[in-house]
Amino acid sequence: MKIAILTSGGDSAGMNAVVRSVVKAGILKGCEMWVVREGYEGLVRGNTEHSEQQAQATTQATVAEVQNEVANQPILAQTDSDKNLLHNLRFGDGELLKDGTSEYVGGRTLKGRYIVRVGWDDVRGWFAQGGTLIGTARSAAFRTPEGRLAAAFNLVKEGIDALVVCGGDGSLTGADVFRSEWPQLIAELHTQSLITDAQMEAHSHLKIVGLVGSIDNDMSMTDLTIGAPTALQRICEAIDNINSTAYSHSRAFVLEVMGRDCGWLALLAGVAGGADFIFIPERPPNVMPWEDEMCAEIDRHRKIGKRKTIVIVAEGAHDSDLKPVHAEYVKQVLTDRLGLDTRVTTLGHTQRGGRPCAFDRILPTLQGVEAVEALLEAEPGTPSYMIGVQENKITRVPLMEAVKMTRAVAAAVREKDFAKAMTLRGPEFAE
Ligand code: F6P
Repeated sequence: MKIAILTSGGDSAGMNAVVRSVVKAGILKGCEMWVVREGYEGLVRGNTEHSEQQAQATTQATVAEVQNEVANQPILAQTDSDKNLLHNLRFGDGELLKDGTSEYVGGRTLKGRYIVRVGWDDVRGWFAQGGTLIGTARSAAFRTPEGRLAAAFNLVKEGIDALVVCGGDGSLTGADVFRSEWPQLIAELHTQSLITDAQMEAHSHLKIVGLVGSIDNDMSMTDLTIGAPTALQRICEAIDNINSTAYSHSRAFVLEVMGRDCGWLALLAGVAGGADFIFIPERPPNVMPWEDEMCAEIDRHRKIGKRKTIVIVAEGAHDSDLKPVHAEYVKQVLTDRLGLDTRVTTLGHTQRGGRPCAFDRILPTLQGVEAVEALLEAEPGTPSYMIGVQENKITRVPLMEAVKMTRAVAAAVREKDFAKAMTLRGPEFAE
């Protein structure tokens, strides 16, 4: 089997460990392994040596146009400034390095190549690297039918039969849409004479498996997403640092943390860092106006002797009428109503970058092996699996069911059914 792996959406610590694990597990099981650079965007762009071939065919305007169009967009690493990535991928001067043990096809330039065959040594040491070394992007092109047609063409051209996608729920939904459309895409490519009868027959189905890479820990049917433990650790460290300066000045700090629509990072960091009050989307304050509830609570803490105050605001926080709660406003309330000397700290992307913690190396390593096994065992045309972890066991769950349950949380919040939202999120959110 020829398996390609891509990372998509916001990067998270542990994505490189996923790539390493999938590549190595695949090689050990006799598969040919490929990486797709820059997420779905790389899938749409493909390898440009094929573009010339496409341009010659009269009936293939759609694919050629899409490829040319995206290739002219100035965003991705395809120039000399790509040296870093080239270096990280152990490619020198744009050439794939030959290595005794690796299986990749050496001697071809990386420039203009987004779908690259890799070997054992290409991913050596990747478990310890932050971000994603094969790049990620939020691809608008892949959201169009023409983009997905180009992506299908590029995969068939390289003879790839299976795809591993590591990303958040949007990326994984895209993966399953691609898989379900695959037979039509292949038929269309054949109609346009872009692929031969033999290619059509050999690639009648695409097997896909998803791994959840996201710092937000917002995916249902898995206890943890890859990158969430590291981000949580970063936030805890930041709170520890802030605690000492807050204590010294007897100040209040309002910390805004990431998580998109999910309050997991804020909630768990609050517990781990000893916060006085936490705002999360799934459970807004009970009392309205919430300012009364927050001030009463913090005042109580101060009266029993606390010298410092920490309030955590998840980026998606709102009140029970779904009106956003902003860190600056919280600061103003603490200052005006309690007279506290208050500062705001927005942790931003420091939460997302940097080396993965141990668990964000172990989890992707185990899940990567499971992903390869799931692909090797998958029946053609069956729905994709998502690899998760539940009660300390690596699991396979139907990808679309997990996406559906994740969307149900957002719907419950929109309907202001916060009890349901918390139950759906899982036991950490139980009152
Ligand atoms: O989904 C991961 C995440 O870091 C969210 O927590 C945050 O809302 C978003 O991505 C930030 O995205 P960007 O890096 O594109 O600003």
